This record gives sequence, structure tokens and C-alpha cells, in this order.
Amino acid sequence: MNLPKRYLITSALPYANGLKHVGHLAGAYIPADIYVRYLRAQKRDVVYVGGSDEHGAAITIQAMKEGTTPQAIVDKYHEIIKRNFKDLGISFDIYHRTSAEIHHETAQEFFTALNERGELEQQETEQFYDEEAKSFLADRYIVGTCPVCAHNNAFGDQCEKCGTSLSPELLINPRSTLSGNAPIKKTTTHWYLPLNKHEDFLREWILQEHKDDWKTNVLGQCKSWLDAGLQPRAVTRDLDWGIKVPLADAAGKVLYVWFDAPIGYISATKQWAIDNGKQWEPYWYDKETSLVHFIGKDNIVFHSIIFPVMLKLHGNVLPTNVPANEFMNLEGDKMSTSRGWSIEMDEYIDDWIKKENGGESMADVLRYYLTTISPETKDSEFTWKGFQDAGNSELGNIFGNFVNRAFVLMHKLCKGKVPPLHSEILDDGDRKMFFEIATAKSTIENLIETFKFREALFEVIDLSRKGNRYMQDKQPWIVAKQTTDEGQPTTAAQMQIDNCLHVCLQLTANLAILINPFLPFTAKKLCYMMKVVDKMLDWENAGKSKLLSVGYSLREPQILFRKIEDAEIAEQIEKLKIKSKKVEESKNKDAGSQTPAASSQGNESTSGQLEIGDGQPVTTTKPEIVFDDFAKIDLRVGTIVSAEKVQKADKLLKLQIDLGFETRTVVSGIAMHFQPEEIVGKQVTVVVNLAPRKMRGIESNGMILMAEDAAGKLHFLNPEQNIEAGSAVS
Ligand code: MF3
Ligand code: ZN
Repeated sequence: MNLPKRYLITSALPYANGLKHVGHLAGAYIPADIYVRYLRAQKRDVVYVGGSDEHGAAITIQAMKEGTTPQAIVDKYHEIIKRNFKDLGISFDIYHRTSAEIHHETAQEFFTALNERGELEQQETEQFYDEEAKSFLADRYIVGTCPVCAHNNAFGDQCEKCGTSLSPELLINPRSTLSGNAPIKKTTTHWYLPLNKHEDFLREWILQEHKDDWKTNVLGQCKSWLDAGLQPRAVTRDLDWGIKVPLADAAGKVLYVWFDAPIGYISATKQWAIDNGKQWEPYWYDKETSLVHFIGKDNIVFHSIIFPVMLKLHGNVLPTNVPANEFMNLEGDKMSTSRGWSIEMDEYIDDWIKKENGGESMADVLRYYLTTISPETKDSEFTWKGFQDAGNSELGNIFGNFVNRAFVLMHKLCKGKVPPLHSEILDDGDRKMFFEIATAKSTIENLIETFKFREALFEVIDLSRKGNRYMQDKQPWIVAKQTTDEGQPTTAAQMQIDNCLHVCLQLTANLAILINPFLPFTAKKLCYMMKVVDKMLDWENAGKSKLLSVGYSLREPQILFRKIEDAEIAEQIEKLKIKSKKVEESKNKDAGSQTPAASSQGNESTSGQLEIGDGQPVTTTKPEIVFDDFAKIDLRVGTIVSAEKVQKADKLLKLQIDLGFETRTVVSGIAMHFQPEEIVGKQVTVVVNLAPRKMRGIESNGMILMAEDAAGKLHFLNPEQNIEAGSAVS
């Protein structure tokens, strides 16, 4: 495969008319950022542009709502959104805006060029007009009943309820949002892009040339547009907010927002070039550029049909791919800022990142969760519970725990330095781990290059899971007990310990490189802990097994991901309900019609009763109790008669425990430590009078006691030899 010479990556320019939510973030920004960070780590020539879309009715309607000017609206939201992206690690090379002078010029030149080449058609038509407001009505200014789903507030361009693209003519009982009156028709002249003339080209280019490398959801939408037949599309409007049509006979007319906005990618590139002393032209004219548009599915037609026709007519490069995502729902309902059923980026940043020291790691937790539920092929769903699980189990207990154990043990057993690798005792387990490290690189690379970010990230986490298993097999903390008379590990033991931790630390360095495109704040923290410069994160270093030199002393571990508490999750769910209720009330709609389904998720904890393996030795004790407090606890010896994994809960095992007087179900958070079959028949100490608690829908009647050693390994508390089940412990 020939690599492109350079990449120009774009994320949809969000309207600067309000806050943007995490669904937007997951759709067009995080995937682009992952891709761009990966390309940069590969040292490819890449420019990532973004910015605010500041024209169109979306802006003027918001100005009307907030009782201010469109300019004030875009100034306000541009700054907030730009800052939000930065706080979440979206690494634009430039975050531009379409109100900029250079953009107005660029868009006007573009229009003029197409017009002078005779590629636009002028047509006189009848358009909706509000006689009272003396104004032509943009599609967004007309509302009415949706012909598809009967929603009574559908816009003239789209029904937000069912997502159908509309035109005002299709609305039943149309009315103007300016006066509330039914609009009349009045003649006006506009410029059109005759898409119908380019159908053959589009068919060939999309459905043939790209049939294998574009996503099926994108191909599917394009095909249905093409099969329905394309119409000439107006590229001008009768409005005063927007970019003036650069013609003498076009007073009072502006460019249609969807004509100027994508040109914003070009003007942003120009501004970036000016700011950085670079040339912008190759990115837009040289055929060896790979242009990739990251968008949500509502933008597909604009980026894969309309803008490409404009680019082709203007002599520019065409996009090599348009990896559009589907939508992300929230707690059982459509995500929508206007209905208050959403998590705004700004809100998340305030609640999770700004509140605490080192809060950037919570930016990574969000990036992580959104990537794992990325709607790459179908709509997906954000739940707070899922967010908590992702943060606590996969990030905390798998990835974070591995790194932490490696560092803790290295400090404890290897004097805080990278231990040597003794090749004479290298075994199959070590070799297998090196092999896994080497293959992970190419697997992840292939997935990222084909825009499968969710799977790619899964592979990274899986590599850390393998690290945990490797460490668990090697058990250096046990090996360390083979001591000499002086209490030091024997030479043979130390060699085994060295090898294990050498491998684990090289794996940690690899994990930093591989996780970097996804979780940049975490990668940075890992570099700090390993005392290496960012350069180590270059992709070419991935797969190597000698990234950290022997004898190099490393810092103390830092907690990579803090635990997310049940109470915090409950609070967010409550907040969401209150927010949407407030919006509903203020809209004063007929009660009940759109109230989002309340989340039914309780406060179950997937981590079970045990908090496992954060590697922090507990040095303080709990507050004093009196004997009566202790005597309330009924402890018995029980025998595990069966054990099985709980579906979709990495950590939970469902146990049947024989207590002599009865057999009980106990759900326990030990699945990461024991295989079900290895614990059947074991005796355990059980708290038998603990109130029942539901976990993953299973009622747990009691709790088993376990001891956790410094390395995070769990041990049963059982009698020396099997005794009668039900025996009291006191
Ligand atoms: N502002 C549009 C939206 O939010 C996206 C514009 S993308 C661009 O749906 F290409 F036109 F810039
Ligand atoms: Zn509808």
C-alpha cells in the first residue's frame, strides 16, 4: 500500500449556538483525535482542522431566544466550545471560525469561481415569506407537522424527532416562527448547484471506487440519495446573517450555510498555514493528500455528496473517506440539549475534571468510555452505570492495576530500578509476553488505519489484561519468599523476579505508546512515572522490548484512575432527571408527552463487596468499635458447592455456599482472581446476616471474607482443614 504524502483531517464544525454534548464528542471529535494522534505518532504529515460554524438559522434563532445578536451568540459559544475541546484533549492544529474575514473571502472566491465557470444555475422560484415580518423564511424558520412521524414541531429542513430530511413544502400546516402566521409564497432569485448533473460521477466515485473502503452506513445513505435522484440545490438565501453573495445583483442575499461551512475547512487550513509559516495549497490541491472528514450521520449527504461535487468543480482533492458515526443515546432516550436530556461537555468538565487535582485523568475516562461505546456501526447508548464500570473495571482494575502492581513490586523487590533480564532463565511465559507485545502493535495499527477505534482500544486493554495474567502466573511476591538466611531472596529467586518485572515494565512502556492516541493524559502520566520524554511515544517504538534501560530508576507509581463511587453516579442520574424536568417545565409542554424514561438503574455495584488490587497498603485502621458491635456480625464457615461467572460482569462470581442449615447464593467480586472451577469445594468464612443485596439482578445473601496481600492477590480465610459447614466463627 502506498501511503498518502499528507493528511488533512477534519471534524464537523459545530454550530456555535449552544453547548455541545458528549454524543457530539463521540461522533466526530474523539475518533478524529485518535486518528490524528496516531498519525502524528507515526510522524506522518497531518493537519487537523476544526472550528465553529457561525452562520445559518441555527445561530439567528438562538439569538432570538437569548434576546441578543447573532454575533454575541457566536462569540460566546465559540470560546466555550473551543475551550471544552481543549480540556478534553481534542488536539486541533487550529480551531477556526467561519465569521473570520479570511473565511468570508475564501467562501466568496469559491462561489465566484464556480459561478464564472458556469457551474451554478440561476433560478427564479417561489419561496415562503412572512408578510408580517417582511422576510423570506429559511427552512429552519418554518415549523409544522412532520409528514413521516406527525411530530408537530418539525423544522422545514429536518424533523428532529424522526430524523427525516424535509423541505418546507412537505410540512403539514406550516407556520412561520417569526410571527406564528402561515407563510405565503413570493418569488425570488437564487443560485443553484445542479447536483443532478453529477450523479454519474458520484455513482462511480462512491459506489464503485469506494465500495470497499467506506463504511456501510455511509455507502447506504449515499446509495439511497442517488437512487432517489438528485435535485439542483440552492446555495444562496434571502437573509442578512451570513456571507454576502459576491455579485452586484444579489443585494440582501447570503451564501447558504451549508455552502460556506465546509469551505471553512479550507479557510482554517489557510489560517493554520499563515500561523505556522507553511503552505496550505498542497493539502487541498495535491492528489497525494488524504482528506478525511469525521462527522455524525446527519452530515453524511453534505460531506459525501454535496461538498465533494463542489470540490471537484473547484479543482480540489476529494475526500478519501468520510467515516461517519451513528448516534449515541443517553439512558434510554435520544440525547438532546434542547430537551435537557444530555451531558454537555462543559458540564462534564465542571463536574469531573475541574473539581479535582489531576482531574485530566477523568477526561481520559470519558474518552475511554465514549470510544468503547462508539456508535461506529449502529446507534449506541451512554449510561452512567456503564461509565462507572468502564472507569472502575477496565481502566482501574485491569489497565491501572497492572501498571500499579508493576511499579509497586519493582520498588519493593527491585530497588526502584528496571531489573536486568537474565536470558539464561527466560521461559515460554516470558517469550509469549514479548510476542504479544510485538503483535499488538500491528493489530492495533491495522484497526486504527481502518477507523475501527473501538476494537483497537479493546486490543490495548487486552494487552494489559495479558500483563496481569502473566504477573499472576509468575507471582514474584511469592517467589520473593524463597529467602537466604539473611532474609533476602535467593539469587535464583531474584533472577526470576527480575525477569518478571523487566517484562512488565517493558510492557508498561509499550502500553503508554499504544494508549497514547486514545488516552493522551494517561500516556503523559506514564511517561512521567517512567521518567522518559514524550518522544518515547513515537509509534515506531511500539512492539519493542527494550524501551526502558536496565538499571534506570523509575518514579513512584501514581494512581492512574481513581475509583468512581456509586454516589457520584447516582448524583449524575438525579441531575439529568432534574435538568430535563426543568426544561420540560419551562417549555410548558403538554405533560408527559416527551418525558424521557427515568433510569431504572439502582445503586448496585459491579465491584461487589471487595475493592481489589489498587495496590495501596492499608496503613490506618478503622475507628474503634465495642464488643457488641462485633457480636452483631454472624460469621460461619461455609463450603462453596458451585461457582459460575456472572454475565457481563468481569469481576463477579455467583457462588452457592453450603452453610449446613441451608445453601445460599452469594455474589462475590473475585472473578478476576479465581477461576470458578478452582474454588469449588473450598471452605470460606461467610457473613451470614448481611442484608441481601442485588448485583446484576442476582440477589446476594451474604459475603465471603478474603485477605488481600500487598501485591493485590486474594486469599481465602478458611479453617486449616475442612470442618462442618455452618460452624460459627468468633
Ligand atoms: N454545523 C453543522 C452541524 O452541526 C456541521 C457543519 S460541518 C461543515 O450539523 F462541514 F459544514 F462545516
Ligand atoms: Zn418526523
